[in-house]
Amino acid sequence: MNTDTQSKTGEQPSYGPIGVTAALHASPSDPAPKPTLFAHEFSLADRVALVSGANRGLGLEMALALIEAGARAVYCVDLAKEPGEEWTKVKEFAGRMQGKGGEGRLEYLSANVTDQEAMWKVGETIGDREGRLDACVAAAGVLKTHTDCLEYPAKQFQDVMAVNVNGVLFTAQAAGRQMVRFGNGGSIILVASMSGSITNKDHAWVSYNSSKSAVLQMGRSMACELGPKKIRVNTLSPGHIYTTMTAAYIDTQPHLLGKWASLNPMGRIGRPDELRGVVTWLASDAKTSPALSRPSVRTQDVYGDIPVITWLESTSYFIPKPPRPVGRPEQTAPADDGRGLRRSLGSLIHPQTATERRRMHTHPAAQMLTAIGSLGVL
Ligand SMILES: NC(=O)c1ccc[n+]([C@@H]2O[C@H](COP(=O)([O-])OP(=O)(O)OC[C@H]3O[C@@H](n4cnc5c(N)ncnc54)[C@H](O)[C@@H]3O)[C@@H](O)[C@H]2O)c1
Repeated sequence: MNTDTQSKTGEQPSYGPIGVTAALHASPSDPAPKPTLFAHEFSLADRVALVSGANRGLGLEMALALIEAGARAVYCVDLAKEPGEEWTKVKEFAGRMQGKGGEGRLEYLSANVTDQEAMWKVGETIGDREGRLDACVAAAGVLKTHTDCLEYPAKQFQDVMAVNVNGVLFTAQAAGRQMVRFGNGGSIILVASMSGSITNKDHAWVSYNSSKSAVLQMGRSMACELGPKKIRVNTLSPGHIYTTMTAAYIDTQPHLLGKWASLNPMGRIGRPDELRGVVTWLASDAKTSPALSRPSVRTQDVYGDIPVITWLESTSYFIPKPPRPVGRPEQTAPADDGRGLRRSLGSLIHPQTATERRRMHTHPAAQMLTAIGSLGVL
């Protein structure tokens, strides 16, 4: 194998070779090597971020994590004209924190994510002040009370979509436009939910569930458009986490805590701080590999959920359709000749025909095999 990986993979880290490449290029007479994993790959030193819905809850938790990872400034955007007590305490705490590697300013801007013009202006304000914008977390979201899907009022449905779908798009646009303006690339993280992929039995949340599915597809779509501009787009799909949003249910219907906990292999619901690692990873250079570019990450990974589930969300984006020569009809599925198992598995992973492709998208076993195949097992 050629050790000149750059000729095969394109760009290398701006801070020079890392990992095994660094080891292979090093000479015993060089000064002692320094670990780079936290100094560079996971570091957000001098980066600037925008986090929506960050006056409290998951948004605020992730904003603080970005500061601790070294960000120069994190702009928290939320509805309230002035930030709340929680936010103010966190800002003060971050300001006193030692050795975080940057100035670590937590800033607050009031805006409604449903207002596209206002959000673009937020992006411009950050860009003008900081001269860059590197990371964005679109976390603002709303969950309404149970409402029968057959009676769901149009206005209420639109209100949820306006925040959870339009608002996520406008936030991503606000940041993405500045990322293009400064030409440094960047990372956009759209907060979806497990509710975008599974449904929550016994909860009448048709608007919320639909909105989160839309965010997943928005992520895949934007990832493909913005990848060539070196802007990565990922979605984050948390399971149940105790915040103001879920407290509205758990605190009024205490049996839900046990029910939701029992749905998770770890037997408990999540804490907001358990998103610190994953958001830092997604925002940082540690997550630049196109080989990990299924634009979807479920935080159940962090809790130890069935790992294969992680890989299912964007297989249709990831598995390319093989080119078919012009004028040649699509092949039919090969007949089973005794070596069928391996070939069948192969057809599930690299479908050749329309039927196989349909099967890949609809059959749970096929999706699982696709996932395993993507991991290189087959
Ligand atoms: N808590 C969970 O269990 C859970 C699970 C999966 C996904 N999520 C998602 O995580 C995100 C954060 O949820 P949370 O639990 O921290 O909820 P939260 O209610 O504590 O926080 C949401 C924040 O968004 C802000 N917001 C709402 N509408 C806005 C608007 N129009 N403009 C600007 N800001 C607005 C709110 O003011 C609030 O500060 C949401 O997108 C939610 O759907 C949460």
